[in-house]
Amino acid sequence: MIDPRQQAAETLQDILEKHCFFSEIKNISSPAEQQNTAFLNMLVLTALRRLVFLQKVISTFAAKKLPAKHAFARYALILAAAEILFLDTPDYAVLNSYVNLIKKQNDKYVAGFANAVLRKIAAAKEELLKADNGIFFPDGFRKLLEKDYGEKQTALIEAASLNEPPLDLTIKENAAEWAKKLNGILLPNGSVRLENNGKIEKLPGYKEGEWWVQDFSASLAAKTISAPAGKKILDLCAAPGGKTAQLLAAGAEVVSLDISEERLKRLAENIRRLNLPAPRIICADAAKYLEETSDRYDAVLLDAPCSATGTLRRHPEIVHIKNTRDIEKMAGLQKEILNRTTWVLRPGGELTYCTCSIAKEEGERQITAFLQNNSEFRLFPLSPNDFSGTMPAEIFTAEGFIRTFPYHLQSYGGADSFFIAKMQRTK
Ligand SMILES: C[S@@+](CC[C@H](N)C(=O)[O-])C[C@H]1O[C@@H](n2cnc3c(N)ncnc32)[C@H](O)[C@@H]1O
Repeated sequence: MIDPRQQAAETLQDILEKHCFFSEIKNISSPAEQQNTAFLNMLVLTALRRLVFLQKVISTFAAKKLPAKHAFARYALILAAAEILFLDTPDYAVLNSYVNLIKKQNDKYVAGFANAVLRKIAAAKEELLKADNGIFFPDGFRKLLEKDYGEKQTALIEAASLNEPPLDLTIKENAAEWAKKLNGILLPNGSVRLENNGKIEKLPGYKEGEWWVQDFSASLAAKTISAPAGKKILDLCAAPGGKTAQLLAAGAEVVSLDISEERLKRLAENIRRLNLPAPRIICADAAKYLEETSDRYDAVLLDAPCSATGTLRRHPEIVHIKNTRDIEKMAGLQKEILNRTTWVLRPGGELTYCTCSIAKEEGERQITAFLQNNSEFRLFPLSPNDFSGTMPAEIFTAEGFIRTFPYHLQSYGGADSFFIAKMQRTK
């Protein structure tokens, strides 16, 4: 069985050097290893959230930077510092475990160096924590956000993003009852919010298909489509099916399209578990389908592929691995798909565009350009009146978009950053 600390160091190295998502490399196979999953997750996520601070602390106490050939020791030091400063492991246990691992992976001289650095960090723990001012974003990511939001708002986003996000569930029926049964809080949109711990499969109502996991912000997009019952709706980029499930539950005739066969399998499984009518499933590149099809729709919901930067609370690796080029690349793809949706919408048909990106390039600017270039579409300004329940005014922009931020819904524990625009074909 691999030591979870060793696995965490290798995982951290892969994320930061190969620029991949944590979820792409989580590969815990045997049941014995699964027992370590929660610890591994906590370790890697804490290190990613506090990476900038931890690296600063290590450089204060280390006389030299470890060369690339000792990469394992570099990442092990970051994790050890994270355990000493932010997790409850006793210092002696942290030192013991990591120094032994480094001795095995590198050599006894590097282990001796790590031992000396970690002892100093443990001794200075209290002063270090007093000096911690909650830095999460590295300079590059902070600048990227400041271009769209300025310094003050970026600081608000950073502070609200450090906390571990809760778990939101969309409930099929009787949300208030399920909030009680699950010991959760009922959110203004009717979602139920739980503390994010434990296996969701073990929660009441999972097997019976009474609810599915979907963040508050993400749940708003499908609700923008007016009177969905009986309408023929194209859910573009649909997997794993959160929005398809909402549309089916509302009585729509749904076509769910996604490029990933694997993810569509999960969509089909999810819809089966929820005992909802099966949608028509199409595995295709959205742009190609839109170009070739003669199908016509009453509404299109485009949850466009994006940089996912709005989910930085859940995926803290994003702030270390995403940059302006990633955003520009995704914005190009979104523009291509978005423009082609115009070919399949009936006159009067509704088009809802959304992304889980925090960048205006993938949201506000994308839609402003679309409306300028497609005069047969008008913006349908969204307001709290378009939703049941008491929606917080803070999530609606002056133009009529929905733009959520991690500091929204603060008293409930925040929200992912999401962008939603609703348009209508006038001709
Ligand atoms: C944000 S996820 C969608 C989440 C989904 N709408 C939901 O509510 O559960 C984005 C999806 O876009 C799909 N995708 C990426 N590029 C695509 C393309 N060119 N055509 C169709 N789907 C694409 C991905 O496979 C992924 O499942």
